[in-house]
Amino acid sequence: MIRKAVIPAAGLGTRFLPATKSMPKEMLPIIDKPIIQFVVEEAIASGIDDIIIITGRGKRAIEDYFDTSPELENHLVKNEKYELLREIKNIASLAEIHYIRQKEPNGLGDAVLKAEKHIGAEPFAVLLGDDIIKAKVPCIKQLMTLFDEYNQHAVIAVEEVSAEKISDYGILKGREIADSIYRVEDIIEKPSLDEAPSNIGAVGRYILTPKIFECIRKTGQGKGNEIQLTDAIRLLKSEEAVYGYVFEGTRYDAGDKAGYVKAIIDFALERSDLKEETGRYLQKIVAGLPHSVKIT
Ligand code: UTP
Repeated sequence: MIRKAVIPAAGLGTRFLPATKSMPKEMLPIIDKPIIQFVVEEAIASGIDDIIIITGRGKRAIEDYFDTSPELENHLVKNEKYELLREIKNIASLAEIHYIRQKEPNGLGDAVLKAEKHIGAEPFAVLLGDDIIKAKVPCIKQLMTLFDEYNQHAVIAVEEVSAEKISDYGILKGREIADSIYRVEDIIEKPSLDEAPSNIGAVGRYILTPKIFECIRKTGQGKGNEIQLTDAIRLLKSEEAVYGYVFEGTRYDAGDKAGYVKAIIDFALERSDLKEETGRYLQKIVAGLPHSVKIT
């Protein structure tokens, strides 16, 4: 049973500079909801109620966001904005959230290692703080189901990635043992197209066994001089089985500019208050029409 989740959110977010100079990338909004709230909600919807967010310098906004805000609540009461008040209070009561600091952004593996004391000797979930996955069954819940079916071995979410994106991902060498399920034979962090053993890339959702901590400790600096979680998973797979699962759902790499734009458009098209206006606007753009033309 998976009860705890780690959400690493201590990276520098350099792809989103200058915005991330003074705000965490995980707090960038998809219209009016920060990216990290989607991630926290996915964990909660999967039955996880103990969440550890790994933060670092300049990430105070994340802690404030999930905290209560008496001044704001009073203001909303005074102005009789009860719907907003309910939403604001709800954010603060989503789950039990703990914060652990990663003093320097030494890589995703290092960030996960920081949670060791809190996790202890039980399997746990990792959800990257800048990946949003829209799915009927929450992606991490899908992995949890597989984890139970496959003898409680580690499972990582994977998807096909395009040739030009391969060098941004941990790429799998695997044997497809069942529909959409791979037994991981190797995994290489950010390979060049020539080195890549496949086009199956790991995305930001993992169920890991506590053995991963020992593996991270044995992992030296890898790509980008960072301690890579991918390299630790490579060690893990030589000690116990690791599976890759092609999850059902749509993933947005919201830590990447194009992924962020796509997420905003898709979420706007799903909202009753925005879909018509956004849809009409997109139709005009696609048709190459001036913005002033009316579409009925
Ligand atoms: P990324 O590599 O996408 O984040 O890590 P980054 O380093 O902040 O981004 P760029 O490349 O500079 O734009 C994925 C997730 O892991 C966290 C990040 O905060 C992000 O949510 N992370 C990364 C850590 O917590 N610690 C690290 O040392 C590195």
